[in-house]
Amino acid sequence: MEQFNNMDLMDKIISLCKRRGIVFPSSEIYGGFGSSYDFGPLGAELKKNIKDEWWNNMTRLHDSIVGLDAAILMSPKVWEASGHLSAGFADELVECKECHKRFRLSEIKEKKCPDCKGELTESKKFNLMMKTFVGSTEDESAISYMRAETCQGIYINFKNVLDSMRMKLPFGIAQIGKSFRNEITTKNFIFRMREFEQMEMQWFCHPKDADKWFEYWKEERMKWYESLGLDRKKIKLFEVPDGQRAHYAKRQIDVMYEFPFGWQEIEGIHNRGDWDLSRHSKYSGTDLSYTDSDTKEKYIPYIIETSVGVERSLLAFLVEAYKEIEGGRTTTTEAAKEVETILDFHPRLAPIKVAVFPLLKNKPEIVEKAQEIYQMLCKEFLCQYDQTGSIGRRYRRQDEIGTPFCITVDFDSLEKDDVTIRNRNTMEQKRVSIKELINYLKTKI
Ligand code: GAP
Repeated sequence: MEQFNNMDLMDKIISLCKRRGIVFPSSEIYGGFGSSYDFGPLGAELKKNIKDEWWNNMTRLHDSIVGLDAAILMSPKVWEASGHLSAGFADELVECKECHKRFRLSEIKEKKCPDCKGELTESKKFNLMMKTFVGSTEDESAISYMRAETCQGIYINFKNVLDSMRMKLPFGIAQIGKSFRNEITTKNFIFRMREFEQMEMQWFCHPKDADKWFEYWKEERMKWYESLGLDRKKIKLFEVPDGQRAHYAKRQIDVMYEFPFGWQEIEGIHNRGDWDLSRHSKYSGTDLSYTDSDTKEKYIPYIIETSVGVERSLLAFLVEAYKEIEGGRTTTTEAAKEVETILDFHPRLAPIKVAVFPLLKNKPEIVEKAQEIYQMLCKEFLCQYDQTGSIGRRYRRQDEIGTPFCITVDFDSLEKDDVTIRNRNTMEQKRVSIKELINYLKTKI
């Protein structure tokens, strides 16, 4: 299978996403709304599968991690305490004096507008918090902020979770949810958006153990990516040096993935030290220290954070999965000369797990049997039923959206009570009895 490594590849992926209901540009009928994207029926499934994999990995496969679902809107004091309302959470912005477009200073290569070559203004700080008004008045007292990172909801509930769940350090709190940043520019499809989802886990530990846990979580996160099919050679860990780290981070590793537009961050792993809990203790007046019930030692826990964007990891999984085969793999004449596209998703991420085809749509016994099998499988897996076009065409439609297994019901199925299962990647075809079907698929997905 040939893999591409250029911007052309991004265009192809974006076009496939639109064509097959994975990602749509937002507000398209109104001419679009630059920074937002909508996830179509298959994109919504893909996103959910990624979130489920992360959630289950964190809360079931690791000891001492509990989940949380905190509100997006919080007291504005949260953001004063966290440091997000100050210069630390701001980008340097420049504006073109001719066309008035704005850019992040870090995007500017020659001191001219990248679009019209006009002169640029001096750079100024631009805070990324998205402001809103809460309640019926629109004055200063009603100002609140859409959360810019989900983890602040975890910190302000640290004591609630500790007390209600009788937790002992070290332990973690995991959360998935929307975050908002008023990014100056958004680009590279769903890579940088103003509204996005984060999957964040905050690990509370004794300060002396923080380095050890940092290493542990770094390794765990790499294992997660690899277990879902990301090629380790396309992941790099970047140790962010002094002066470039986020304002809260004592240590920061950016997990970088090789996108067609270059190496870019998909996840941040941070040692946030006691920054968050001590700031919230100070600003709220509530003591957020922890007392060890055995040693009676009292201290502010350190926090090791793993923070990954749902859409960014989705884009990495998409890029990784996208394959093109010149001339196609099928031998049918209609398909022979075309380029065949495959999304080689890990079966657990694939939006549709199984497609069911009757060999012929004009044979009622076969159609009825295929529909019966489809109904049976729907209770276990997300399935699609398709009876239109040749079997070759139907395979290709499923390959293009990454369906790992296609089942064909034929004349033999009526007699022998079995079906053909075709594997997306190997194209191997195997007869499996209908009563074994669910178990067989469960071992593969
Ligand atoms: N709580 C720590 C935190 O938010 P971050 O490095 O600012 O750290 C973590 O963000 C992750 O969230 C990033 O690695 C990325 O995957 C995702 N992310 C951040 N800004 C984003 C944006 N504008 N659009 C899409 N994803 C974004």
